Amino acid sequence: MTINRYLIANWKMNVPPEGIEGYLAAVGTAPGGAALVVAPPYVYLKDVVAGAPRNVGVGAQNCGDQKSGAFTGEVSAAMIRGVGASYVIVGHSERRNIYGETDALVARKLGLAIEAGLTPVLCIGEDQRVRDAGRATVYVSDQLKAAGIEQLETAGEIIVAYEPVWAIGTGRNATGEMVADMVSAIRDALGRFWPERYAGSAPVLYGGSVTPENISDLAARGNIDGYLVGGASLDSGRFLAIYEGLRRG
Ligand code: PGA
Repeated sequence: MTINRYLIANWKMNVPPEGIEGYLAAVGTAPGGAALVVAPPYVYLKDVVAGAPRNVGVGAQNCGDQKSGAFTGEVSAAMIRGVGASYVIVGHSERRNIYGETDALVARKLGLAIEAGLTPVLCIGEDQRVRDAGRATVYVSDQLKAAGIEQLETAGEIIVAYEPVWAIGTGRNATGEMVADMVSAIRDALGRFWPERYAGSAPVLYGGSVTPENISDLAARGNIDGYLVGGASLDSGRFLAIYEGLRRG
């Protein structure tokens, strides 16, 4: 059976208070049913790869937009693959909004991630102003279009994460119904702008203030293939409770 449901922990610039070893041991107890991925800060990638139980994949939170060379502070997709990680998040809204990453830059990162053999987790999502203006689906479709169809032709799996900016780290999650509407717009856009197979097969995740408390509405109504979790992923117990919601949903 191919698993195309995912739960991804984005630790951001944090380490779980219980420590990496304890966290991984706890997450390792999860039963099968969906893929679990942990995305630590770069410097812990090797430790997480070494300590990850068999059911846990490892990803980076970002990668450089160049192959190698004089790019101080950057880490290439090939290096991430080289230390044994399998996934990389690209285009997270914190990268786009705080560090000024454009669609073109995100597309370059996506291409390099594919070339390196990583599974990219492409983040897209509108901010509050765009949503209020009624332009959320157009905005998100444009972000998908900007990923560049040619470089997607040769890619394996690509995970799409719908992460509305107004929901990230704010405690205001999108409702299951809002997410379901957006997921169908995303599948529609994938059909129009990406190689044909993605419309049906790309896993579409939701991210933005997902917690054990709101997981049941999202799971019941959201039509989602999984979640990208920030804050609530730092505690293995809360992360596993979300996993249970995904498995049952
Ligand atoms: P949050 O972050 O769960 O803390 O809102 C989600 C994300 O940024 O991926």
